[in-house]
Amino acid sequence: MWRASVLTLFPELFPGPLGASLAGKALEKGLWGLEAVQIRDFATDKHRSVDDTPAGGGPGMVMRPDVLAAAIDQVAGDDPRPRLLMSPRGAPLTQARVAELAAGPGVVVVCGRFEGIDERVIAARALAEVSIGDYVLSGGEIAALVLLDACVRLIPGVMGKEDSGTEESFAAGLLEYPHYTRPQRFEGQDIPEVLLSGHHAKVSAWRRAEAERLTRERRPDLWARHQGLEAAQNAPEKAVSQTPRRADPESSSSG
Ligand code: ADE
Repeated sequence: MWRASVLTLFPELFPGPLGASLAGKALEKGLWGLEAVQIRDFATDKHRSVDDTPAGGGPGMVMRPDVLAAAIDQVAGDDPRPRLLMSPRGAPLTQARVAELAAGPGVVVVCGRFEGIDERVIAARALAEVSIGDYVLSGGEIAALVLLDACVRLIPGVMGKEDSGTEESFAAGLLEYPHYTRPQRFEGQDIPEVLLSGHHAKVSAWRRAEAERLTRERRPDLWARHQGLEAAQNAPEKAVSQTPRRADPESSSSG
């Protein structure tokens, strides 16, 4: 079973939204497992303190390395699961990384609070820092829920077949094509004619063209990468190699 262990000062936030809908049903059925562990339970002093003032001064508090290390050691001792630390300075989370994590045995996720976590425990317990975007949340819990949601929906049996299209499109590096359903006319706008034609090849071609148009217009970074990948497929020996997960897609030589 794919298992997630989340280390947090707010275990009551889990499963939260992951207890609803398809992820929640899959959790009940035992298709994946979730354990939320209270970091404070590993504090050793009488005040159960998990943080202290930053060395060198400055505002805020820093999470103590000894308490967090004890929690990680008990939860993940010699566990093969990757150990992640949700942090805005981490590697940006991508669908490729999500797919990798979902294909493995599960994850151990540390949620930071306060100004940060003592640097020494990140190194000593080999925590891989992961960011869900270039903005700062008040803690890692919501970021952990995002990461887990993205992983869990890829576990076999969790989603219905209906979602696989979204997956293929994003895996190819394109945004989703537009969707329509009845009524045929809505506030003066009609469903595009080709979608009513019953001609499958034409429908596919239209959807592909729309996915490409939206990607070009909205996400020039994804578009440049997509074109690079296509070039590599068509002429592998000529194509400039693409690094799949780079911090700054804008710096692409193919852009
Ligand atoms: N914790 C705070 N901000 C975060 C972010 N953007 N991604 C992951 N973890 C975070």
